[in-house]
Amino acid sequence: MPASLLWCYLLFASFHCRMAFLWIASLVLCSLWGARGQTKRCSGYEAINVLKADSYLIADLVLIGNCSSHSSDIENLRLLVEYQTDSRLHVLITDADSQVFQIQEHVLPRPRSENASSSSSGLQFSFTQSPFAFSVTRASTGETLFDTADTPLIFETQYIRLRTRLPSNPNIYGLGEHSDDFRLPTWNYTRTLWNTESPMIPNGLNLYGSHPVYFDHRGESGTHGVFLRSSNGMDVKLGTSDQGQQFLEYNVIGGVFDFYFLAGPTPTDVSKQYAEVVGLPAFVPYWVLGFHQCKYGYKSIDEVGQVVDTYAAAGIPLETMWGDIDYMSDHQDFTTDGSRYPLEKVRQLVQSLHDDGQHYVQILDPGIHRAGGYPTYTRGAEQNVFLKAADGSFYRGFQWPGEVVWPDWLHPNTQEWWTDEIRRFYDPNSGVNVDGLWVDMNEASNMCESTSCFASTSARTWVANKGIAVRKRYGDPVPFLGVPERDLFNPLYRIQNRWGDISSKTLWTNITNADGTHQYDTHNFYGTMMAGATRNALLSRNSAVRPFVLTRSTFAGVGRVAAHWFGDNASRWDHYRTTIRQMLSFTALHAVPFVGSDVCGFNENATEKMCARWALLGAFQPFYRNHADTTANRQEFYLWPLVTQAAKKAIDTRYKLLDYMYTSLWKASADGTPNASPLWFFYPSDSNTFGIQNQWMLGDALLVSPVVDDDSQSVSFYLPDDIWYDFWTFEQKAGGGQTHRLDGVQWDEIPVHIRGGTILAMRTESANTTAQLREKNFRIIVAPGKDGTAKGELYLDDGASLDVGGNKSEIGFVWDGQSFAANGTFGFETDVKVERVVVLGGEGGEVVTHEGPWGLGGEFGFHL
Ligand code: NOJ
Repeated sequence: MPASLLWCYLLFASFHCRMAFLWIASLVLCSLWGARGQTKRCSGYEAINVLKADSYLIADLVLIGNCSSHSSDIENLRLLVEYQTDSRLHVLITDADSQVFQIQEHVLPRPRSENASSSSSGLQFSFTQSPFAFSVTRASTGETLFDTADTPLIFETQYIRLRTRLPSNPNIYGLGEHSDDFRLPTWNYTRTLWNTESPMIPNGLNLYGSHPVYFDHRGESGTHGVFLRSSNGMDVKLGTSDQGQQFLEYNVIGGVFDFYFLAGPTPTDVSKQYAEVVGLPAFVPYWVLGFHQCKYGYKSIDEVGQVVDTYAAAGIPLETMWGDIDYMSDHQDFTTDGSRYPLEKVRQLVQSLHDDGQHYVQILDPGIHRAGGYPTYTRGAEQNVFLKAADGSFYRGFQWPGEVVWPDWLHPNTQEWWTDEIRRFYDPNSGVNVDGLWVDMNEASNMCESTSCFASTSARTWVANKGIAVRKRYGDPVPFLGVPERDLFNPLYRIQNRWGDISSKTLWTNITNADGTHQYDTHNFYGTMMAGATRNALLSRNSAVRPFVLTRSTFAGVGRVAAHWFGDNASRWDHYRTTIRQMLSFTALHAVPFVGSDVCGFNENATEKMCARWALLGAFQPFYRNHADTTANRQEFYLWPLVTQAAKKAIDTRYKLLDYMYTSLWKASADGTPNASPLWFFYPSDSNTFGIQNQWMLGDALLVSPVVDDDSQSVSFYLPDDIWYDFWTFEQKAGGGQTHRLDGVQWDEIPVHIRGGTILAMRTESANTTAQLREKNFRIIVAPGKDGTAKGELYLDDGASLDVGGNKSEIGFVWDGQSFAANGTFGFETDVKVERVVVLGGEGGEVVTHEGPWGLGGEFGFHL
């Protein structure tokens, strides 16, 4: 019995204890109240007309008895099961009328089926007819991976529910974006997926992005993944049933059940299989791996220039300077403030950055100021690209500039308008010659909190807004627009959105998009569409180079178009720690390799020691940007002696490793291999690793184990049973399979180990910019594993071209204990050489250096 209901009974009992009839009436009232929105006993569906072939199965599902727990039952469903590849099974349950919303194909293209056969598939589908339930098993072992038998399927217009059994003490990961434990709690835990502005990245609540995919790791039995291709708001619950069965349950307020089961069996296999489903991540240009500085609150372009100069004077390499909304006039996109940020001065600064081999990125927000005489608004209005309220007027809300309207990314004119705005303002010859763009507030965040804010024209009348006009325009019936007659504001099943109502602090969910769908269904990918449109605009501005877009809001597949930072954290030790698990969720589980936090924290004031540690931590994460809020004190790395020292060492090391990081990012975009992973990806049978969330593997060779405790100089870290070498001293570390403690870790130190069996290509020295770095020679570190051998990779190209064609080198290094060989393809012409090869782990820990040089134009090697 829910606690609220118990209180209801007690309250009435205390009022009416002497009047029996009132007592009874109260009981009835309480029961009725308690029953609101509760899931009734539903009988589910029966599978009929089953047609089975080697590569697929189809069936009709018919409702057995009335359920209507939170909205109206959909009585007739269709089931499609496809063996798409030998490692991917697609299970799709839709309404028979094809009315229920499904994500538009152009928004998230479905993977192509290769029509694999059920007999060769690594996964097997089976079902029971009545009530319909299904299970997925691993073919090689017969182990059940997914089983819906415990509760009947519910499929209503505004609530769909499906529960699967989990093994006891399961290891479940994913379902981002969140700041919770990397291995998800499985007791009475809810992950809500509903993109939202989420300052201070609270635990247990929904954040900026939605990625409905989880990895289920079962140690030696393997890992599998489950992706639910749905953008609807949902609570995914993990808990234990009254019968003691652990479960994972989807409670979704719309859409269909569109599952992709990924067989693994290794964790990395699942990452790759998932990237194949949602799209391989875009490859980044080389320069974005440099160190970035940003701050909300730089008052003028002169102040920005001073920051650049002070970094130079301090001898801290700065690759990219960022422009937050301060540069704008009245916070309007595509403007500069005439007195604080005059265009000519901004252009000059960008030019001088470019002259020095540095870069510049600016922010854009989706809220377009609704102001007469603001050309971006006027042109957008002329092209009708803004979202509309129920009465047909532009839907209005509140953002930095004041009253704003928002682009409808599903309108056919919006891309052209957005591209045009970007090309005008960022024209390299007359405008701000940016190197990349940063899209923010795109959940979309709406500061208009009360329903009365601009209510006059944005009438909150969902009835008027059923997509009928669109149906007329495009002819009837239009599939997947969403079932009509839904309550698009207050679905009876209330997901546990951080801000309560689903329309709270965002766009009203009754808004009809230009294609007839509703924000109710498409909300979660609004930001990803903005990021995609921005990437397209940058490509139109320069189709030769890889665009760089950083987005706050994300959805499954966002890696195809953008990088991501974790939003508004704070300068707190726990947020410093949180970055590790946030990073791992994106890189290893969500196919978004280029991610990072606001280094030294965004909100509140950083302290010297924390910022020093964070400067080191960030250097070993993919995206490395110092950023702070306007209300926070300045925290540039040159401001404190300890931080300066730590940052110099951090950047120096990062830059020497930059090609190693670049190679791992290239692999991530080539086949989905994670560029940063948790330890259990490499040691899937070692249960000690399953819960580790303060250490990570960067690429396949480096284990990073930062100091994580507040203001501490000690760290305990785990080294799995393997050969490990200290990255800083090359000393072989005894004691694999144990937890180690290190005391007296200085403020410019971070423990890093090289995993035996790997080969690292490092630049011999660092440089002031990544452009200069590319001129430096290499030194190759061979770290033999238990069997005395090692291997590694190096990818080289010009670091910028979108299409490098054959102008790239994919070099494999092999050490067999006696000889070293570099082979592969050598299409990238370079004068850079390999100066020496250093082999670790000789007799008594000896480090043997083999002097080159060797060119990188073709195969090379040596024998002992
Ligand atoms: C919110 C973003 O999360 C933050 O990074 C940015 O500085 C502010 N908006 C101002 O643009």
